[in-house]
Amino acid sequence: MRKGLIMENELIRRIKEQQNGKKYTILTMGCQLNENDSEKIAGMIEEIGYNMTKKIGEADLIVINTCCVRENAEERVFGKLGELKKIKEQNGTIIAIGGCMMQEEVMRNKIKKSYPFVDIIFGTHTIHRFQKDLYQAIVEKQKIQDILDINGEIHEGLPIKRKHSKQASVTIMYGCNNFCSYCIVPYVRGRERSRKPENIINEVERLAKEGYVEVTLLGQNVNSYKGRENYGFAELLRDINKIKGIERIRFVSPHPKDFTDNVIQAIKEGEHICKLIHLPLQSGSSKILKEMNRNYTKEQYIELVEKMKNQIPNVTFSTDIIVGFPGETEEDFEDTLDIVKKVNFEQIYMFIYSRRSGTKADKMDNQIPEDIKHKRFELLKSLFEKKIPENNLKYVGSIQRVLVEGISKNNSKMYTGRTESNKVVNFEGKEEYVGKIVDLKIIAEHTWYLEGKLKDN
Ligand code: 5AD
Ligand code: SF4
Repeated sequence: MRKGLIMENELIRRIKEQQNGKKYTILTMGCQLNENDSEKIAGMIEEIGYNMTKKIGEADLIVINTCCVRENAEERVFGKLGELKKIKEQNGTIIAIGGCMMQEEVMRNKIKKSYPFVDIIFGTHTIHRFQKDLYQAIVEKQKIQDILDINGEIHEGLPIKRKHSKQASVTIMYGCNNFCSYCIVPYVRGRERSRKPENIINEVERLAKEGYVEVTLLGQNVNSYKGRENYGFAELLRDINKIKGIERIRFVSPHPKDFTDNVIQAIKEGEHICKLIHLPLQSGSSKILKEMNRNYTKEQYIELVEKMKNQIPNVTFSTDIIVGFPGETEEDFEDTLDIVKKVNFEQIYMFIYSRRSGTKADKMDNQIPEDIKHKRFELLKSLFEKKIPENNLKYVGSIQRVLVEGISKNNSKMYTGRTESNKVVNFEGKEEYVGKIVDLKIIAEHTWYLEGKLKDN
């Protein structure tokens, strides 16, 4: 139960009187943690009586949940705010902006100066107060800035309006202690705080009862999760694996330096734990990894991959890579390409290094020119893309368990789903399979998706 519920109930009643039946929309930028925060914000807004709309022009309330990991995410926000100004002038829409970018004082000041029509500015540690902020903005007609510059507390029991009905995200820990030298996250999300094991387990049990079949455990650094003494990520994985009805357990993101044998064992033994490991590499050069403060070398990363390949049958990997970190030479970049050649990643999330004010890497004087960063990005992309067909061939002829998501966006005659390793598979199916896991024989590969056939056909 939420703290101060009596006051909240009264507040909800009063604001509901005014807002019942009005429409809202949320624009979410950034990672899955932000998506999960937005689901909670949506839950709180709907508790007040609003209905969701996808049409920004008909919304009475627009929320932007921002990201600040890279500069282009911030630029998109300013572009969007330019568009919202006109909508606000026409419709008097309430505009709220929150999330990571609002934890930065310079950004808040920029919003207040250049976009004074914004009604509510809120941060990553004040989401739980959104209804109160909304009340003050709408009923009391105040301009609200609700930011806490602390590590934030964990607030259990917030209402939540989930985006999907079969796949759910569950945040298990907040914040990050790693201070990778390029990354702004520790400054805007604070230090690591783990949720209590029983709260996470209760949430997943509830999801299973509601018919969810897949959960993704979220955190900036999930394998440094610490529920209590002698209860870490491995123990949590084992407990969640026991929950009846949850067929698939995924987790993002672990840090290679915290991948203990105990966690590897829990993944191996957990029959519901997906054997696709997202293992952020960032760079293949030991020199750059040191500068990045990643706490592992190229050799240690490869060793870890080999160890998991030896211990976990059919394990696959995906990763994050940054190109153009300060001081990255052609040789360093070659080391990154070398790992990509060796590991056969299922997916690579590639990023061009973006300077973030306040981070250590931003102060380094050997920044890489933009044209070289872009050239390396294209080289990495083409190396990865060249390898996809060859990598996909290993699926052809195999039987894959596929969680069916619905009708394919590109071909309305086909259904689509995902393998345990997150590959898209299209097949001729039936409505009754949606939300279920079916066995499909893979009959062809088409670079961006596989083609499957029901096993018994
Ligand atoms: N520039 C580019 N990419 C970054 N990431 C984090 N910070 C930066 C930055 N300053 C990437 C990392 C991380 C992912 C979520 O975003 O690869 O794993
Ligand atoms: Fe950023 Fe590194 Fe923490 Fe990930 S582990 S959030 S990259 S500081």
